[in-house]
Amino acid sequence: MSHPILDRLQSDHQELSRFLYSFRLYMQQLIDPSSSSDIALILNMLDFINVYPENFHHPVEDVIFAHLMTKSNIDLTDVTFIMNQHQQLEAETREIREDFQTLSFSSRGSLDRFFDDVMVYIDEQNAHLFLEESSVFPLIEDVFSEDDWLTVEGLIDQHFPGDHWEEFQSEIDQMITDIERVLVSGDYRDLQAPIDVQRDY
Ligand SMILES: [Fe+2]
Ligand SMILES: [Fe+2]
Repeated sequence: MSHPILDRLQSDHQELSRFLYSFRLYMQQLIDPSSSSDIALILNMLDFINVYPENFHHPVEDVIFAHLMTKSNIDLTDVTFIMNQHQQLEAETREIREDFQTLSFSSRGSLDRFFDDVMVYIDEQNAHLFLEESSVFPLIEDVFSEDDWLTVEGLIDQHFPGDHWEEFQSEIDQMITDIERVLVSGDYRDLQAPIDVQRDY
């Protein structure tokens, strides 16, 4: 039984994994010339992957990981790597969103390049989640005492007054469920006014 904060981070990871899976499927549709794509939906997805980890998930992890780094006699290689990767992933997310906005859908080469970049980005995000789950979270569970958790809880309360986690979780869950439904049905009407991509190749 892990600490409730780790449980919450793990439940975020489940949502993020579901999201990344849907995003990969949707990007595969984007490069298929026979399907029509909804730009608004992709922008929604890119907003989500920009806003949620950067404003909530990563800052909470950073508080916990920074506390872990005050400990001696443990191997901090993975946690150092992971903390640096937060900034890198956030920068890449912003870049992909910008690239998407200037993407030329009429150029097969530019679309293929964008698709390849997004696939690399999704793999990096998944590898990040995996390293946290397989290495950093178990290390925290091993090393943290009750006092460590009290310190970390105090810092998190200070940075995020009020507990909006459940609100966040239900919003995310609803959004991903909507995206999954749209992916299955191909019916975008409930989600956003569709903007069909014009292709001339
Ligand atoms: Fe992380
Ligand atoms: Fe995480």
